[in-house]
Amino acid sequence: MMESAIVYDEIEYPAYSYPQIHPDRLATIARLHGMAPAPPDRCRLLELGCGCGSNLIPMALGLPESRFLGIDLASTQISKGRRQIARLGLANIRMDQLDIQDFSEDQGLFDYIVAHGLYSWVSETVQEKIFGIIEKCLSPEGVAYVSYNTLPGGHLRLMVREMLLYHCSRFDSARQKIEEARFFAELIAKSQIRPNSYGSLLQQERERVFCRHPHVLFHDELAECNSNVYFHQFMTQAAHHHLQFLSEADPRDVQPTANIEPSAVALLKKLGSETIAGQQYLDFFLGRRFRQTLLCHSSVAIDRTVTVDRITNLLVAANAKPTTSSLVDASDSEVLFSSVDSKDESASITTSHPLMKAVMVCLEDVWPLPISFQALWDAAHNLLLAWNPPKPFDSCNEWNCLAKMLFVCYQAGLVELHSWKPHLTSKPGKWPLASPFARLQSLEGDLITTLRHDQVQIHQAVNKKLLQLLDGTRDRSMILHDLQEAVLASQSPENGGPELNETAKRTGEMLDADLDRHLEDFGRLGLLVS
Ligand SMILES: C[S@@+](CC[C@H](N)C(=O)[O-])C[C@H]1O[C@@H](n2cnc3c(N)ncnc32)[C@H](O)[C@@H]1O
Repeated sequence: MMESAIVYDEIEYPAYSYPQIHPDRLATIARLHGMAPAPPDRCRLLELGCGCGSNLIPMALGLPESRFLGIDLASTQISKGRRQIARLGLANIRMDQLDIQDFSEDQGLFDYIVAHGLYSWVSETVQEKIFGIIEKCLSPEGVAYVSYNTLPGGHLRLMVREMLLYHCSRFDSARQKIEEARFFAELIAKSQIRPNSYGSLLQQERERVFCRHPHVLFHDELAECNSNVYFHQFMTQAAHHHLQFLSEADPRDVQPTANIEPSAVALLKKLGSETIAGQQYLDFFLGRRFRQTLLCHSSVAIDRTVTVDRITNLLVAANAKPTTSSLVDASDSEVLFSSVDSKDESASITTSHPLMKAVMVCLEDVWPLPISFQALWDAAHNLLLAWNPPKPFDSCNEWNCLAKMLFVCYQAGLVELHSWKPHLTSKPGKWPLASPFARLQSLEGDLITTLRHDQVQIHQAVNKKLLQLLDGTRDRSMILHDLQEAVLASQSPENGGPELNETAKRTGEMLDADLDRHLEDFGRLGLLVS
């Protein structure tokens, strides 16, 4: 076990944040299933294998009344997290360097227990311990999140992994192994002279190897342990610990049947969408290779019929734009709204429904903030009246109909449902203030966690500098002044040659003209504190 700590100490896992393990997401899904989970802003959350705290720290910052505990074996990761906690002055989070096997289960109950990127990469003993901790430490209405590699899709990954492991066994250092894995994945992918099914599988796997961060490739694909299980096997293990299936953490993963042939969909319908068998057959049809499963105690009476009230009691958000040329108005002409963030084609809706059109426009207007169903209803109603609809409005029917339409859009990934409103604003104000955690991250790399707990990449040094300057003590003229100073400082010989200086100068001039636009962009990304 010590070996795996050394490996994570040597080659750091990238600092990712995942919206699907935020207590807001877990509470929302639990509420949709009729549970009464702890509110995200007054909860207790445990993360197993928390790495450097890139999930836990921004959560603790955004939810000051909630308490967070993270454990991880790798001391460098824990030290890095502790340094950030100290710099941010957070008192509601603790990170312990500890083997999960030594976790003592007498630390009270947790409303949420999450383990991302852990289960498939640890021994069976540790897997059992993860379930043991969830069984004993999860509060009665609590929700646990466990991600893991699944079969049958995992077979393809395992086929290539075994070849890569064999090839890389001749090399000693982690860096050599990463380079050789990439080299060999490329070589086998192009080894077939004539097109054949083996060659196209290898080509697909090559794409996967190359789109991964090199350190993730090392820890995930080349790891000593990489177990893959069928969903039903995972759930059998969960049942031994008196845990049951609640749902998947990404609503798009529950019934992704858009690309499945109708007779197969008919079988899924017969089995029920959130049953063990229904989900298992879905994995067979999809060739699923990864799951992010939510569990709760078997004693919880889950009600899977999502009622209108459960939807209308939540907050709604969406960042979708009309992508057809037709005017968005109260006529019954069709408009296609597509998600701005998602490359997934199913994250879109074609609607001729005037109220739905008004709703999508209102949501885009307030993005990235979620708003209550009632506030959305009122805003959309007002917009509709301004559009002067040709037909009268039947509020009672429309209320229920809207809730159902939004739920369908939520399952498709076009609309988000929330239980909590983050403290963010899209309007920069006179003294713009960016998330302190994002400012800290921008000193170290390109991956930045937003106040929505998703991540964006900011590559350009000048944009990172701008983000760092947004600490609430500068107005626009001071920001511009300090940014120009930073650009000038970067022109010193030790900071780059003439090429960099030219770029820096041009970027400085560009910002002078476009500061407002850049601030608005940060606002829409969810980086500005309200
Ligand atoms: C793949 S990383 C995932 C980190 C983070 N959860 C994420 O998803 O970004 C797995 C983490 O689990 C930790 N880990 C592995 N085995 C462990 C054990 N037995 N006890 C505690 N932590 C462990 C590793 O040190 C590493 O930080």
